[in-house]
Amino acid sequence: MLKTIKTAPYDDQKMGTAGLRKKSKVWEQPNYVENFVQSIFNSIGGVKGKTYIVGGDGRYFNDIVIQKIIKLAAGNGAAKLIIGQNGILSTPAASKLIIENKTDGGFILSASHNPGGPNGDAGIKYSNSSGGQAPQQVTDEIYKNTKTIAQYTIFDNGSVDLSKIGTVKYGDMKIEIVDPIKDYVKMVMGLFDFPAIQKLIKNGFKIKFDSMNAVTGPYAKKIFEEILGAEEGTVINAVPLPDFGGLHPDPNLKYAKELLDIMNGKNAPDFGAATDGDGDRYMILGSNFFVTPSDSLAVLTDNYKLIPGYKSGIFGAAKSAATSTAVSRVAKEHKIGYYETPTGWKFFVNLMDSNRITFCGEESFGAGSNHIREKDGIWAILFWLNIIAATGKSVEEIMNLHWTKYGRSYYMRFDFEEIDTKVANDLIENLKNKLPSLEGKTFGEYKIDNARSFVYNDPVDNSVTQDGYVITFSDGSRIVYRLSGTGSVGATLRIYVEKYEKSNIKEEPMKMVGGLAKIATDIAEVAARTGKEKADVMT
Ligand code: G1P
Ligand code: ZN
Repeated sequence: MLKTIKTAPYDDQKMGTAGLRKKSKVWEQPNYVENFVQSIFNSIGGVKGKTYIVGGDGRYFNDIVIQKIIKLAAGNGAAKLIIGQNGILSTPAASKLIIENKTDGGFILSASHNPGGPNGDAGIKYSNSSGGQAPQQVTDEIYKNTKTIAQYTIFDNGSVDLSKIGTVKYGDMKIEIVDPIKDYVKMVMGLFDFPAIQKLIKNGFKIKFDSMNAVTGPYAKKIFEEILGAEEGTVINAVPLPDFGGLHPDPNLKYAKELLDIMNGKNAPDFGAATDGDGDRYMILGSNFFVTPSDSLAVLTDNYKLIPGYKSGIFGAAKSAATSTAVSRVAKEHKIGYYETPTGWKFFVNLMDSNRITFCGEESFGAGSNHIREKDGIWAILFWLNIIAATGKSVEEIMNLHWTKYGRSYYMRFDFEEIDTKVANDLIENLKNKLPSLEGKTFGEYKIDNARSFVYNDPVDNSVTQDGYVITFSDGSRIVYRLSGTGSVGATLRIYVEKYEKSNIKEEPMKMVGGLAKIATDIAEVAARTGKEKADVMT
C-alpha cells in the first residue's frame, strides 16, 4: 500500500565527517529515520528507477532501519535494492558492491567505531555511485532538506526476511539478498599474493585478529582461517553482536585491550591486527610493537612493488592534514603525486576518481586504495602480511628499516572529549584569532614558521574546505588542532603533534612529542578553558 505520511522536521540531521551519527535513542524518535532518508531521496532528484546497496555492521537498530529503507525506497519508486544477507555488509564490502553492480549508490548503516546498543550510537552513511560517501555539496543539500521536510512516502507490504539469499519482489521493486562476503573475498584475492601468505602461515607465522564483536568476524574467519590456513581461534571476537558485546569497537591502544595484552604477553604471536565496527579501520601490531597508522601508510606506499595488484605502478598518495608527514617523504622518493586533504575519506574520492592517487590514509587508523572508495581494514592487514611474506622480515624489522631510510615522524594524537560545545567553539575561535601573532615566535627549542587555518582547494571540483589549524615549526615539527565531526555528545577537541627525527629513531613517542604537546595545550588554553589537565584518549 502506497502511503504519504505527514511529518515535521528535526533540526539536528546535519551529517558529520562520515554520515549522520546519533544516539540510538535519537534515531528511535518517530519519523527520524524516515525524515533523513526521504531528505536524501529528495535532494538527489528522487530514486525512481534507481538501484541501491543496503547493509551495515549489524549493530542495534540497523534491522529496523533496513525495513524502513525498503518501504521508503519502494514508496519512492526505486527499481531495486541489493541487501547483504541478514543486513550485514562491511563498509568496504558495500563500496565494492556499489562499484561492481554499478548501482546509483548505497546506504551503509553504521556509526563506525562508536559503541552500539540501546544506549550507544547508530548511523547512516549515504554513498553515491562512485562507491564513496557523498561530497559536501550533496550533504549540504540533504541537510537543507531535513530542515523543511513535511512528508514522506512509503510502500508498506510488511517486513522482508533478510536471512535467505535470493531475489524477492516488494511491490514493483526488486530486492536481491546477497552473500556479504563473496565479492569482497574475490577482490582481495585478486590484489594480494595469497599463495605467499599461505606459505608464510604454513611455516609457523602466527597471527591474532580481533574483530571486536563487529562486522569483520565472518570476513576474517573466511579469509584468514579458511583460505589462508591460520589455525582456528586466530580470529577472536568473531561474531558480530548488536552491542559489540559491550566493546568500544575502535582498534587502537585504548580499546583493543584484549589483543594488546596478547601481543605484549609471553609467547606473543608474530602479527596482531584489529578492525572497527564497520571494518574500515585497522590496527597493526608486531610482538610487543605498535605501528602508527601514519607510519603504516608510508610503509604500504613504499612497498607497492611487492604487491601483485599494484606492482605495475601507482599514481600517487594522499593523507589528511592531521596525519603525520611520513608518507610525503615516500612520495618524494618514488616521484609520485602527493596530496594533503581535510579529514574524512570523501576528499580522497575525487583524487582517486581522477587518477591522481592510488593510496590514501589517515592517522585515525584508516588506509585504502583505489580498489574501492572507502578505507579498508582487512585490505591494509593483508597488505602488511604480503610485505612480510615477500621480505621475510618481522613487523618491527620492516618499521626499523623504513625509519633508517626515511627518518621518523614521532607522532601522537590527544583527544579531549565531551567538552561543552560552546566552550569548544570559543577555544577554537580564540586560537584562530591568536594564530597570526604566533608566527616567528619561539617556544623553548621550537620556533614557529607558520600558524594558519588549513584550507583545501579541491583540484578536481574546485570546492574549498576549511578544516582545523596547523602550526609548523622551523624543524618540521607540527601541531594540528581540530574539532571532531563524528561525536554524538558535546564536542571533542583533537590535538595532533608530530616531531621529525632523521636518525634518532628508537625513542619513546611520548618522550619525543611531550614537550610539543605541552606547547600545544598551552597555546590553546586547554586546561583553563575546559578544566582538563590531561587528554581523555592518547593514541
Ligand atoms: C574521525 C577521524 C577521521 C575519520 C572519521 C571517520 O573523524 O578523525 O580521520 O575519517 O572519524 O572514521 P573526526 O571525529 O575526527 O571528525
Ligand atoms: Zn569505521
